[in-house]
Amino acid sequence: MAKARVAVLISGAGTNMAALLYAAKAENCPYELIFVGSNDPGAAGLEIARAEGIATWAHSHKGMARGAFDTLVDDQLHAAGAEFVALAGYMRILSDDFVERWAGRMINIHPSLLPRYKGLDTHQRAIDAGDSFGGCSVHIVTPGVDDGPVLAQTPVAIVPGDTAATLARRVQFAEHQLYPATLAAFVMRDRSPAYLCGRVRELAMALPDANETISHGMPCFGIAKGKKFAYFTEDHHGDGRTALLVKISGADEQAALIELDEARYFRPAYFGDGWIGIRLDLGDTDWDAIGEWLRKSWLAVAPKKLSGLMGAAEDL
Ligand code: GAR
Repeated sequence: MAKARVAVLISGAGTNMAALLYAAKAENCPYELIFVGSNDPGAAGLEIARAEGIATWAHSHKGMARGAFDTLVDDQLHAAGAEFVALAGYMRILSDDFVERWAGRMINIHPSLLPRYKGLDTHQRAIDAGDSFGGCSVHIVTPGVDDGPVLAQTPVAIVPGDTAATLARRVQFAEHQLYPATLAAFVMRDRSPAYLCGRVRELAMALPDANETISHGMPCFGIAKGKKFAYFTEDHHGDGRTALLVKISGADEQAALIELDEARYFRPAYFGDGWIGIRLDLGDTDWDAIGEWLRKSWLAVAPKKLSGLMGAAEDL
């Protein structure tokens, strides 16, 4: 399987970026670093990335509106072909637009046991509060600062006499272990058949009267007591693909789709002209589009009574 393409954004030393980078050198690491960007051209981490032959980009945010700067960064990420973004000490508040564009594909590391101590001075605040543990968290980025679902955490014991600096040093060791492992699991999840099937299931089962059965070993979705409108295939007949099969109008549409994007669309073996295979394991699946494919496929097999209901609901 191709490695997931990860871009890292930093503002400073970049030790977490370095941890991600060196972990990526392992043959079995499921991601590769393809780009390191910074809002500070003097960020020390840029040197590390350059020395390792990673493409870097830096531009000061000073004097720029937040949205305009984030658009500049977004352009760079797209030009680099990033699939995921890892924030590693990127000390910029992100515009909601930017966060939205990378929703579900951007993670951050923060030096506290979230939800405690968002923001700055995390170690001192943990010591002052008399906590037994500080630590670090990796979370999915959502619009709030240091907010979003936590993927993993490492607690680090606070010892008598700890200062913010001594605690920070131990938390840094923990960060360097936690971030590469969590990023690896995160990009794998996005490609794992179980996760992909779960997403298809959620969309398919939301359609009126949908049910799920197993046909020829594949999870398949149909209308209760009616026809099937979608199949989820995993390595079907050893083809190595994870894909969704949906109904289409016929041979012409099938040929046009394959011509449009032959890496994504394919003619499913044994299904004939009325179906198209859509790969879900390319790392850039547009789930809104998948929802639309499922809806159209459902409409193609739904009895009039039901499809009329769908039409009526859409007219509201
Ligand atoms: C890390 O401790 C990271 O958790 C923190 O900045 C440091 C960057 O160090 N991030 C935040 O506080 C985000 N709110 P590094 O540049 O050596 O990786």
